[in-house]
Amino acid sequence: MPEHKVLISEEHIQERVRDIAREINEQYAGCTLDIICVLKGALLLTTDLIRNLTIPVRVHFLHVSSYGGETESAGTVSLRFSSVSEDLTGRDVLLIEDIVDTGITMDYLLKQLREENPRSLRSCVLLDKPSRRKINVIPEYVGFEIPDHFVIGYGLDYRELSRNLRYIAILDPSEYQKKD
Ligand code: IMP
Repeated sequence: MPEHKVLISEEHIQERVRDIAREINEQYAGCTLDIICVLKGALLLTTDLIRNLTIPVRVHFLHVSSYGGETESAGTVSLRFSSVSEDLTGRDVLLIEDIVDTGITMDYLLKQLREENPRSLRSCVLLDKPSRRKINVIPEYVGFEIPDHFVIGYGLDYRELSRNLRYIAILDPSEYQKKD
């Protein structure tokens, strides 16, 4: 395995996640929050975040895909699986994503969720790459803004690998230039 260039350390991530959880606890005090975890990338963020939430939460999962094993988005999003079996009408909903890049995925998901008529709908992402935006989506809770690198770790993958890294690393371009 090549040496990874660490962009954000485990300690830094954990600290930021605790800060975001604190903000959410304050903002939603007195409410029950319906959290929608977007698989697979938001899995680690969701589990760490909910451990730090003290308000009541329900957790749902959606599985979307847009990359198909490449480092550039295909530009279309497909919903592969949804565990949102309950009616979200009148609920406070928080969408949790790993990263906003072009914004296409988040825009698609927010539009779908808005049709459920929630009382409130916000989004939370670990990473934001604003320089790559094609659709103007602005998440309410952002862990870190990052420059235009393809990154892996803490849920984010390249060809399904590296999600288990406890930190965020920049994928070495030699990795995706290799043809297998
Ligand atoms: P968007 O639709 O272009 O905003 O892309 C959103 C999805 O693309 C994310 O949920 C990720 O799954 C994936 N993605 C975007 N950038 C990266 C990256 O740097 N590393 C890993 N996955 C990424």
